[in-house]
Amino acid sequence: MKRELITTKDGSKTLLINGLEETYHSKHGALQEAIHVFVENGLKLINSYEINILELGFGTGLNVLVTIDEYLKKSRDNKINYFGVEKYPIFLEEALELVYSELFSNDFVKDLSLKIHELDWEIQNELTSDFFLTKLKKDFFDLKTTELPPIDLVYFDCFGARVQPDLWEMELLEIVASKMRSGGLLTTYSSKGSVRRNLMELGFEVEKKQGPPGKREMMIAWKK
Ligand SMILES: C[S@@+](CC[C@H](N)C(=O)[O-])C[C@H]1O[C@@H](n2cnc3c(N)ncnc32)[C@H](O)[C@@H]1O
Repeated sequence: MKRELITTKDGSKTLLINGLEETYHSKHGALQEAIHVFVENGLKLINSYEINILELGFGTGLNVLVTIDEYLKKSRDNKINYFGVEKYPIFLEEALELVYSELFSNDFVKDLSLKIHELDWEIQNELTSDFFLTKLKKDFFDLKTTELPPIDLVYFDCFGARVQPDLWEMELLEIVASKMRSGGLLTTYSSKGSVRRNLMELGFEVEKKQGPPGKREMMIAWKK
């Protein structure tokens, strides 16, 4: 599948899969969407000292960048272990074209925008003394047999159900739920009714939230 670079409405860039017309982030603003869905309605709602984050899928790395940028803004004394799962990593040339370094004022985060794509897979990389990134190159369904610490926060950022319907069905949601600790939070840009019902059936308490620009609603779900 060929990917093409596009500029979204807030000026930040993302990738589009040619033919499928599916983008890695919202055409209405990639950066705004990443902050709204994953920081405002994710990271900021978790109070634990040690936060284990699981992202499906890692893609352009924008979600880890907004996460560490937010983390560094606070004089936090907590620790983050971030696990990014991705079967089809982007190429370094694509990461270069995305110029995510331009989106951040923090020089450390600017540097990470490329570096995160050069890091080895399957090992824990120390980004700061308290922020660790482990990239897992695998299919989402292989999470079933992947050892992870109890997950506090899931960034469910799969391509939409229009193009990958199986990723929004019970089988994968059940695998993801089994990796989460009780009281953990799943956040997603989706507000699809069938996904909400699946999550409720799995014992989540689901809340509708205002969506990012260009989208009326999104969902967060607390695992009971
Ligand atoms: C919406 S994009 C993720 C955007 C990403 N969070 C970011 O910040 O750029 C969905 C990602 O899921 C990956 N993906 C699709 N099917 C997958 C599968 N079965 N297993 C693992 N990764 C998959 C895609 O390659 C893509 O990077």
